[in-house]
Amino acid sequence: MAKIKQEVRLPYESDPNVVYEGDALNTLRYDDVFAVKHVGKLCGVTEHTAQTFTIPGDGEVALRIEVWSENVVRFVYTYGATPTNFSYARTTGARPHDATVTLERGEEASTIRTATLAVRVAHADASVRVSDRESGLVLHEYAAPFYARYTLMQGLDQMRLQFTTDRNEGFYGLGDKAWDTDLNGRCLENWNSDSFAYGRERDALYRTIPFFYGLREGHGYGIFVDNSYRSHFDFNSNRDGLVTVWTDGGEFDYYFINGPRLDKVASRYTELTGVPELPAVWTLGYHQCRWSYYPESRVKELAATFREKRIPCDAIYLDIDYMDEYRCFTWNKDYFPNPKEMIAALRQDGFHTVVMIDPGIRVDDDYFVYQQGVERDAFCRRSTGEQMVGPVWPAECVWPDYTNPRVRDWWGTLYRELYVEQGVSGFWNDMNEPAMFKVNALTFPLDVRHDYDGLTGDHKKAHNIYGMQMTRATFDGLKSLLPAKRPFLLARASFSGGQRYASLWTGDNIASWEHLALANRQCLRLAISGFSFVGTDIGGFVDDPSPELLTRWLQLAVFHPLMRVHSMGNNTDGAAETESEEVKKAEQTDRQDQEPWVHGGKHTDNNRKAIELRYRLIPYLYTAFRNHVSTGEPVLRNLFFYDQLDPLCRKFGDQFMAGGDLLVCPVVEPGLKSQQVYLPRGNWYSYWTGNHYEGRRKIRVKLRPDRMPIFVRAGAVLPTVDAVQHTAEIQKLDTFHLTVYLADEGNGKLFWDAGEGYGYQMGQFTERDYRFRREGNRITIEQEITGEFNASFRNVTVHLVGLTHAPGSVKVNGTLLPHSLRFDRRGASVVVSSEFSTIIIE
Ligand code: GLC
Repeated sequence: MAKIKQEVRLPYESDPNVVYEGDALNTLRYDDVFAVKHVGKLCGVTEHTAQTFTIPGDGEVALRIEVWSENVVRFVYTYGATPTNFSYARTTGARPHDATVTLERGEEASTIRTATLAVRVAHADASVRVSDRESGLVLHEYAAPFYARYTLMQGLDQMRLQFTTDRNEGFYGLGDKAWDTDLNGRCLENWNSDSFAYGRERDALYRTIPFFYGLREGHGYGIFVDNSYRSHFDFNSNRDGLVTVWTDGGEFDYYFINGPRLDKVASRYTELTGVPELPAVWTLGYHQCRWSYYPESRVKELAATFREKRIPCDAIYLDIDYMDEYRCFTWNKDYFPNPKEMIAALRQDGFHTVVMIDPGIRVDDDYFVYQQGVERDAFCRRSTGEQMVGPVWPAECVWPDYTNPRVRDWWGTLYRELYVEQGVSGFWNDMNEPAMFKVNALTFPLDVRHDYDGLTGDHKKAHNIYGMQMTRATFDGLKSLLPAKRPFLLARASFSGGQRYASLWTGDNIASWEHLALANRQCLRLAISGFSFVGTDIGGFVDDPSPELLTRWLQLAVFHPLMRVHSMGNNTDGAAETESEEVKKAEQTDRQDQEPWVHGGKHTDNNRKAIELRYRLIPYLYTAFRNHVSTGEPVLRNLFFYDQLDPLCRKFGDQFMAGGDLLVCPVVEPGLKSQQVYLPRGNWYSYWTGNHYEGRRKIRVKLRPDRMPIFVRAGAVLPTVDAVQHTAEIQKLDTFHLTVYLADEGNGKLFWDAGEGYGYQMGQFTERDYRFRREGNRITIEQEITGEFNASFRNVTVHLVGLTHAPGSVKVNGTLLPHSLRFDRRGASVVVSSEFSTIIIE
């Protein structure tokens, strides 16, 4: 085969002592010698079996193309091994759908066609070109043939795909990147890393989600590379019109997902990798955390202060100090002499308790988890056979190999006492990159062995899925311990598909304005990457927020599905080394608390207002989650998901849609008196004033310290409730609110149920579909109810925003109401039975 020119960054390219095999002499010695392998020239005819095509070439790389649906095509490249078809990322139900597929063999290329896509494979070198059949637009075209690189010392160490782009194409997603929204011009890496006090543009962070969107000439598509090795995504960083994606080994197994709508790409990605279960309603409440709340008296005082100050809260977290010297699944009995009683008392008052569980297990012959793990041979071993021992919180730890199903089963049982006996409501799996202290690598040596569900592998292969498998073991364990409860699990590290098991927070951020903006971008990026249930350490983990920063962060986090304040307190021990002066300074100061009342006076009032808004919106957010788990559409979406053809939507990167109807414009700079916002296509109402605005224009809005700009889509019907102190109180409310944001027509939905358990899967829910139309001065609102859940809501207050006249009469199901509408600044309202089928207002 012809000698291949090495065009892109290879790890060895700057090392003259690593040479291409064709240039290496037997009589000399080198650090390493590499060979590059291709599919090569296609031989004979491409074989075709239903929707699967094997593409035999004269090279050593095997290629299989599978059509998974009209819009999803999978490409699997393997070198030196038989494809396994194994995937941690794919959800069990994911499989190819029937599609109409044709194969045309031409002179120069063979073309596989579905209803929407044409996949052309060149006979000369197996290069691929995917185009949209309707528009003819080329969406994915190789710039060079796919290759695998093999070295004498490392074996297979690179699988590389390279395709063309230009500077106008938008690249989004890729999970957890503290970068600007569009990744065009960036080169990024995926390697789960403990990232204490990370800064903007630090890469890699805690998670690996090798899935991105391309937005080319308004057409959206996605590429998901299902490979657990370290991976690299270079989006045109050299401005050479090339995207290069490479992994440090494994099978290069990727899916091309057609849109053209970005929403559809999101849904199709979750068809492959799954969605979470519907979360328990309490998990959508406000959560308070700190490193660490102890002893018991402090926890109780904290809870009492929330209620006393009338600041809603649903969950209190216990960080590592609740444990007996960092032994997971134990309590420090000096601090918490009777955890069961304390947890029950908190529950009585509407608080759920969430505790941390780390993967690092203390080496201690007298500790039951260590003993059981040793008996079961559950801990990771090095290639030499001895246990992998290293420092995390305890100086000597071992780590369960969660890639072993037997170990996962055992791990799940360990939660029994905390979860079943003592009443802990949820768990927090931290440090699961896995993080290791004291070494620059921040993690295990790469020779550590893993079971990899029987396929076996080293840490290179298992590192990125380690954390996800920990969350899987925890989630499955919780489910089998209490099958009637929806598990709540919060985790730091994960991988594509990990959304099935855990929600995520963005790790150890900093109390700075820059981080506030980043927090939002990270949550949005994660949401469009399959993880809708995400949040940040509100107020910042490291350092203290100013009063204004904390309030703005809370206001933003009203819309982040996980709304949790967390801070590191005065703990510096064990925190990773840092170069940042800001962080060093913060570590020396005596840090303040970070409860919503910390700054007192009007700041407490502002913070309360933000948290109350969250509680008012819970029916809306819960309904958005219901939509997410049934369609895969993210709960949060960048503005360009709303209108991907409008270039201005790509420019206003801080703004986003929460659910289908709320346009959120966070304030991410201090001291602003006003802010420019962009209202995309359609018409909008200010959530606060009810003022009406036409879309597709920029407007300048005055800012107030106690609220940030929020707009509602004209045509929306928004379900809300009065603010309560914790979510269980919602189940007792007699009345909820429906706000109709008038347009010629519109719609909305409420999904509600017990908020816990699985009754909803057997009809125990109530789903209310609202439709309205405006004809002249008459407004008709119709409701369709499905499901059998008997909600406490007997009545609903219907608010009309955007009235152009003052109506006089209200008919419910054909009967004139004796009392009329009440008018206020924003419009009119009327209380009616929540079971109404038609309301006519004129
Ligand atoms: C890690 C976590 C942080 C936690 C701390 C102590 O730094 O990211 O949230 O508070 O460990 O457990």
